[in-house]
Amino acid sequence: MKFFLDTADIKQIEEIAAMGLCDGVTTNPTLIGKAGQDFEETIKKIASIVDGPVSAEVLGKSAEDMVTEARDIAKWADNIVIKIPMGKEGLKAIKTLSKEGIKTNCTLIFSVAQGLLAAKAGATYISPFIGRIDDIGQDGMELIENLRIVLDNYGLETEIIAASIRTLAHFEQCALVGADIATVPSDVFSKLWDHLLTDVGIARFDKDWEDYQNSLK
Ligand code: G3P
Repeated sequence: MKFFLDTADIKQIEEIAAMGLCDGVTTNPTLIGKAGQDFEETIKKIASIVDGPVSAEVLGKSAEDMVTEARDIAKWADNIVIKIPMGKEGLKAIKTLSKEGIKTNCTLIFSVAQGLLAAKAGATYISPFIGRIDDIGQDGMELIENLRIVLDNYGLETEIIAASIRTLAHFEQCALVGADIATVPSDVFSKLWDHLLTDVGIARFDKDWEDYQNSLK
């Protein structure tokens, strides 16, 4: 499973990229707003730090507006992917952009039907939002499982980016059910490498070593 960062925070991206853990980055208007920087500058900067795909979202509501924005944003760097919200206009835009060779990430996917339509329209990626499905009392992970089955049934090459990841369990389950990518927000980063028993183990090794050194005196 590839590991994307779901953030527009440059410092965090630099840190995780330096660890070799960043296969790509996803952003959205909320994340750009949180980072408090200019959209174009931020996307260009991220695209220069990360070799992999960097998703930047359009704000237009009609297919025409989305395509116009997308063509412009796609020129900012070679590794930019255009994030297009799901819907009739979004599907039209994805079809046009895919014919032009512009990569797209169809976002706000909440059903198998939406995922399948986006894939058939030519989306490079689809982004089902696990956490937001859990929020309304349904099972977000089941959507990832079902999308995996459907894309495989028909040999569709669209990749599944599991998004709206809130917990370590989400991340681990995504790997178990075959998401191609998990995009992880900053507050979940450290949960991926931390474990209480690891900390306890290190403390015990340190104590045992100290005892051994004292016994040699
Ligand atoms: O990638 C989608 C993500 O940014 C949304 O996450 O936690 O607001 O549902 P969340």
